[in-house]
Amino acid sequence: MSGVVVFGAGGRAGRAITAEARARGHRVTAVVRDPGKYAGLATDDGVRLVRGDVTDAAGIAGLVRGHGSVVHAVSPFSGPEQGFAGLDPLFYVKAADALIRGLPEAGVSRLLVVGLFANLKTAGGHPVLDDPEAFPQEIRPFAAAHTAGLDRLRTHGGAVDWLMLTPPARLEAGGTRTGGYRTGGDDVPESPAAHLSYADLAVALVDEHERPTLHRTRVSVFN
Ligand SMILES: NC(=O)c1ccc[n+]([C@@H]2O[C@H](COP(=O)([O-])OP(=O)(O)OC[C@H]3O[C@@H](n4cnc5c(N)ncnc54)[C@H](OP(=O)(O)O)[C@@H]3O)[C@@H](O)[C@H]2O)c1
Repeated sequence: MSGVVVFGAGGRAGRAITAEARARGHRVTAVVRDPGKYAGLATDDGVRLVRGDVTDAAGIAGLVRGHGSVVHAVSPFSGPEQGFAGLDPLFYVKAADALIRGLPEAGVSRLLVVGLFANLKTAGGHPVLDDPEAFPQEIRPFAAAHTAGLDRLRTHGGAVDWLMLTPPARLEAGGTRTGGYRTGGDDVPESPAAHLSYADLAVALVDEHERPTLHRTRVSVFN
């Protein structure tokens, strides 16, 4: 099977996805903005570390050609302490546009995207980000940017076989790999105890690389 390209390979999700893909024998092209910062990522011959930016529409085709799937696990925002002064509200739209253009140019169809719980719908039918009691309003600009990216895939993503897997609010960096997960729809998982480890998020993503079952849709993924 052809390999996987991971945009954001140096991040928490990207590292877990790279590790899961390698453990299953898939070749990985790990895309980072500054390879000098991430020399430790190329741990074996199956990982190729390359420079790239997920919003660089002109550069994407060259990076992804010859691969089976492309993973978008990029975040321009790693925590509230960082603030929003530099956040481009169109970041996720630009990334979606670049991928929607670049993948078909390279003859690659499958796009696997990591989502954000904030745009899952509550029991009241509204996205979590619109509920001031459930969602910190200071993080809303980031959630709105993420949601605009999802909307872009929905409205303009027809030329690619995209899938967004959206974890619950509790996405745990130190969590163990159980190898199991469930998928839902567009709604917040019913159980208040819903959680997921990055390792199991990676299991779900690599499963959808190996055996695509969900197409041009967004689903929740949880323990
Ligand atoms: N509960 C939830 O729903 C939940 C929780 C956490 C994360 N998430 C989502 O999961 C995804 C991955 O998050 P994460 O926790 O893995 O984030 P992370 O650890 O902060 O990693 C994000 C990576 O993106 C890279 N990056 C930033 N801008 C880039 C660009 N323009 N092109 C290429 N790479 C770029 C960063 O690398 P450099 O800055 O070094 O280039 C970094 O390694 C994001 O969409 C995030 O919103 C969801």
